[in-house]
Amino acid sequence: MLRVNVVTLFPESFTAALGSSIVGRAVAAGLVRFRIVQLRDYTHDKHHTVDDAPYGGGAGMVLKPEPFFEAVGDLQATPPIVVLSARGQLFTHELAVRYSLGTELTLLCGHYKDIDNRVVVGLGAEEVSIGDFVLTGGEPAALCVVDAVVRLLPGALGDHESASSDSHYEGLLAPPSYTRPPSYRGLEVPDVLLSGDHDRIAAWRAAEAERLTRERRPDIWKKLDA
Ligand SMILES: C[S@@+](CC[C@H](N)C(=O)[O-])C[C@H]1O[C@@H](n2cnc3c(N)ncnc32)[C@H](O)[C@@H]1O
Repeated sequence: MLRVNVVTLFPESFTAALGSSIVGRAVAAGLVRFRIVQLRDYTHDKHHTVDDAPYGGGAGMVLKPEPFFEAVGDLQATPPIVVLSARGQLFTHELAVRYSLGTELTLLCGHYKDIDNRVVVGLGAEEVSIGDFVLTGGEPAALCVVDAVVRLLPGALGDHESASSDSHYEGLLAPPSYTRPPSYRGLEVPDVLLSGDHDRIAAWRAAEAERLTRERRPDIWKKLDA
């Protein structure tokens, strides 16, 4: 069982997503357990203040360190502790695999201008980004990480949803998929997929996976080539 802790200013962002589809089923099956905690619960003033102006000046507010330290302490969270951050290392399939092999994962969501950097340093956290763009808060990023990790837990996917032929699993992008009807609005399913010849189909899929990876993700292709 994987324990996932999330520290957030918006716990309600997680309610629907964690209760439905594959993640919801994984919860029901006891493969994963979530503890979603409200950062404001770890403040001690009457306004439940979580942020303050940045040292050195500048626009925007910075989330204070104390509530994060107290929340992580209260959860007795063990590593990895992950701060969702646009300046983090890029979240990849490899990272999802590593997190899925652990027993606990703690995700700290930022908001406003930033999180006080002592949260990262003092908690020994990993900063993780889901892409080269800036979100308003860490919540959508945490949901991406959770979804990618949970679907890798043994038993989370049924056979028909098997992850092993998905993009990135073996390094390449996945080949395109088609279903009935064979012809739709003048768009045809490639003949080979209708041929019933399993060897030719496998060869076509492998060639398409290579072509798409080469064309769309030269960075991945170069790594695989090396
Ligand atoms: C407005 S952003 C802060 C961006 C920060 N000032 C910077 O330039 O890196 C607020 C919060 O959204 C989350 N966030 C934004 N972009 C993200 C990304 N690409 N990946 C993960 N989290 C992100 C982080 O938790 C961040 O603290």
